[in-house]
Amino acid sequence: MTTKERVLALLEAHRGEHFSGAQLAASLGVSRNAVWKAVTELRAAGCRIDAATNRGYCYAAENDLLSVQGILPLLSETARPLAAHLQVFPELASTNQTAKELALAGAAHGTAVIAERQTQGRGRYMRSFCSPPGGLYISMILHPDRLNFAHITTVTALAGAAVCEAVEAVSGKKPGIKWVNDVFLDGKKICGILTEAVTDIESGTLGWLVLGIGINVTTRTEDFPPDLREIAGSVFGEDVPGSRNRLAAELLNRIPGCVPAPAEAEVIGRYRSRLMMLGRQVTVVQSDGTEYSAAALDIDEAGHLIVETAAGERRVLSSGEIRIRMQES
Ligand code: BTN
Repeated sequence: MTTKERVLALLEAHRGEHFSGAQLAASLGVSRNAVWKAVTELRAAGCRIDAATNRGYCYAAENDLLSVQGILPLLSETARPLAAHLQVFPELASTNQTAKELALAGAAHGTAVIAERQTQGRGRYMRSFCSPPGGLYISMILHPDRLNFAHITTVTALAGAAVCEAVEAVSGKKPGIKWVNDVFLDGKKICGILTEAVTDIESGTLGWLVLGIGINVTTRTEDFPPDLREIAGSVFGEDVPGSRNRLAAELLNRIPGCVPAPAEAEVIGRYRSRLMMLGRQVTVVQSDGTEYSAAALDIDEAGHLIVETAAGERRVLSSGEIRIRMQES
């Protein structure tokens, strides 16, 4: 760890407490000048570190910067080794893109890339994903042999369930999932999930997956472009210090940090319990643009949606082929 990272770790662990430069220097075994330099760098990165005469430095309680040091103490015992493979950036084009590059270079299962904001966030169907400050943008590299799922689609179900559980753990609010993987709170989308995979062409096996999750955490309505304000929501909609570090840790604990990986049937059960549409009428939009009305009955063991048409025909839908709109109840 650099001196800057060690100073941040110490201050993060003692929010609101004062430390003189000499105290920090002594406990870290570095010079006072090195502490001063680290504090200057941290302030430049957006940390609010107050300095009072005779009392020293104080990491303001309202800091809400994402950092490895802020996440590490919140990781479970099994997830803690992931901290060595965790990278946090103020800004990236796309965390999925950076994670893919790391995966191609041989990065380990559980390597995670986090950004405060993205300039070219990617969504499903080649759409862009609006990524203003106040969100948590995280991509995790997952190796299929560490997940132990017969159906690779279960990864998507695990991600959806984990997001809902993590949001609930941090905020006490109960989000739901619109199949296949949009997370909603109070009627607005608060999270999108994009899973990208690379197949080993020679063996035909799955090499690795990049699981990208974007959650609007403290994002304010005015931070979204006007055309999204009616449909995009945020967990808190205002600053809640430390909430994004807590959320990141809750996700890492539940996805790559869960050792051994949870059983597939258990994951599907957790996902099903969060689905908002079961038992309701939905509109199924097919890839050629045609639509039909159906009742959403259940999901199967691979996370496919089972619907029944007005003519009583049961169909098993896979997310790549169709989209679903919920009808007013
Ligand atoms: C969607 O709703 O269409 C999926 C959006 C997925 C967005 C996340 S944010 C983190 C990761 N990096 C990206 O560029 N995309 C995913």
